[in-house]
Amino acid sequence: MKDVVILALESSCDETACAIVRNGKEILSSKVASQIDVHSLYGGVVPEVASRIHIENISIIIKEALEEANMGVEDVDAIAVTVGPGLIGSLHVGVLAAKTLALAYNKPLVPVQHLTGHIYANAFVGELQFPLLALVVSGGHTELVLMKEDYDFEVIGTTQDDAVGEAYDKVARVLGLGYPGGPVIDRLAKQGTPRYQLPRIHTDNPLDFSFSGLKSAVLQSLKRIERNGEEVNVPDMCASFQEAALKVLWSRVELALQQYDVRQLILAGGVAANSRLREITEKEMKKYPDMTYIIPPLSYCTDNAAMIGASGYIAYMKGITADLDIEASSSLEM
Ligand code: KG4
Ligand code: ZN
Repeated sequence: MKDVVILALESSCDETACAIVRNGKEILSSKVASQIDVHSLYGGVVPEVASRIHIENISIIIKEALEEANMGVEDVDAIAVTVGPGLIGSLHVGVLAAKTLALAYNKPLVPVQHLTGHIYANAFVGELQFPLLALVVSGGHTELVLMKEDYDFEVIGTTQDDAVGEAYDKVARVLGLGYPGGPVIDRLAKQGTPRYQLPRIHTDNPLDFSFSGLKSAVLQSLKRIERNGEEVNVPDMCASFQEAALKVLWSRVELALQQYDVRQLILAGGVAANSRLREITEKEMKKYPDMTYIIPPLSYCTDNAAMIGASGYIAYMKGITADLDIEASSSLEM
């Protein structure tokens, strides 16, 4: 069969990224320009600033990705781009660049939903086996997704308030640890013990998540420690928050594995980079010898364009393409 090469673009949040992917599995190049240094000055992503930096970076990053893959746009079969969800101004930059390339080089335009990209990042590691359960955990989303077959996404659990990555970022902020909070809390938690009591959060749908109560509990606990004239032990608080948050995540996964007959579990999204979540997954999956599981490599957990190329490849093979009048959508569902 003829090779299919996808040029993929991602600009939904604070990473400008371009990748060239062959047959949905082989990364010929993957370039990411992170804006973290700039946004960390403000303690979080500033949307206006993000879109401006995307505009500055996008053509450079496309050029670099093509150079590394030793290709021109004429050599690719299609242009895939994240059309949502995300920051609307940021999304516009990628979508406009993709439309321009598609028009100038007469290539099909493949619209990709960002979270499907996170899911298909796993295709770089191993064969997806359906039906599968995906735990999608990022800065904007916390979803349990049941996939009965390729490109079939059923959300069986979602967050009722904050996303888990957002909770990491907010807790890090109140602890004065900077942005993004996930990697710092991950690192500090290793030096602490989870000795602070934090409540278990209830949700009406047992497969749903909730994290804003946990964040408030951390805040209240910090106030109480201060009132008592004690010093907060930051590593211990990081460990306590992390154990509570991951307990919520894993309890839902476990319930879903009992309720649905799946062959594989996959992790996806920025929080899948968390070392403790990866450790828990490896340990807990020993209880399911009949199932396989995949955890994406660290660099493909956080936002990148290779994952958009992997998802875009499946979409392209299924004949999913868009007209040039397609618009970015900040709240696009899977
Ligand atoms: O997938 P992603 O790069 O962007 C979104 O689509 O949201 O995820 C970013 C999120 C941030 O909230 C960040 O704090 C979190 O992923 N994150 C982590 C870790 N690395 C990144 N959370 C926990 N532990 C980590 N090691
Ligand atoms: Zn993401």
